[in-house]
Amino acid sequence: MHHVLSAQQFSKSELLLILKQAEEMEKVLAQGGTDIAHNKILATFFYEPSTRTRLSFETAMLRLGGKVISTPNALAVSSVTKGETVEDTARILSGFADIIAMRSKEVGYAERAAKVSSVPILNAGDGPGEHPTQSLLDLFTIKKYFNLEKPLQLVFVGDMKYGRTVHSLETILRHFPNIALTFIAPSSLEIPLKHFHPEKGDQKMTQLTDEILEQSDVIYDTRVQEERFEDRNEYLKLRDAFIFDEKKVARMKKNAILMHPLPRVNEIASAVDGLPQAKYFEQARNGVPVRMALIARALKLIET
Ligand code: NCD
Repeated sequence: MHHVLSAQQFSKSELLLILKQAEEMEKVLAQGGTDIAHNKILATFFYEPSTRTRLSFETAMLRLGGKVISTPNALAVSSVTKGETVEDTARILSGFADIIAMRSKEVGYAERAAKVSSVPILNAGDGPGEHPTQSLLDLFTIKKYFNLEKPLQLVFVGDMKYGRTVHSLETILRHFPNIALTFIAPSSLEIPLKHFHPEKGDQKMTQLTDEILEQSDVIYDTRVQEERFEDRNEYLKLRDAFIFDEKKVARMKKNAILMHPLPRVNEIASAVDGLPQAKYFEQARNGVPVRMALIARALKLIET
């Protein structure tokens, strides 16, 4: 079954095929959509807040001609509040829907759901673990501007410890060894060892220097993940560690891109939005064609 649980599951040829299929879905979108999924239902079951991910999954399914059932606030309104396990939820939902996109507070929920589900599970973020579908739309965005096989300086900035989008993107970028990775975070939020490979040339730093700004091709900024902190004061101390304002972004190369999975809090000033390097809104839009491709693949409506 075509679950999407972790960025680790993809081979390079699968990644390249997904990118191509997402490009095809962009053309389909330009025509207003298709109806290849006309008799299919997507269930979105989210235990954690979301705007982009849930609504872009749902948009993707609707543009494929399918239907959607949704629990956007599972922790408050579903039987989870009565103590239902993820396994039971998955068993039930897989009796209703043809495919399930799920976001959880804890690592590993999507895998647990996949073990018992009779339909494909798409991991839409599992706590501080992974966010594999986001990493595919991130890769798709990078590929719009750069040749993935040529040398490229990619710098992650922000919360490397809890940022699941970083963890998944780091994983898939290993298929493109010409992309050099640098991780910049306050020392208490540094990149976990399993995602940091100095033997492959990775660097880590605690400061966002002018040199980094001037030399990077892709800067992937992230939000400090407030919801993972027990001590709010600790979060407040770290929240504004790196702020991209117009002055900083003006130091970047003209053809460099600034990405962010969003939502942003303070870390990118709104004055940056109009600069040519700012690509985060386009990045979010890319979620629709990429998720169309992923849903269509999982439902075996296109080549896998
Ligand atoms: C990210 C997430 O949920 O991990 N958002 C998203 O899905 N685009 C990033 C974040 O919440 O900071």
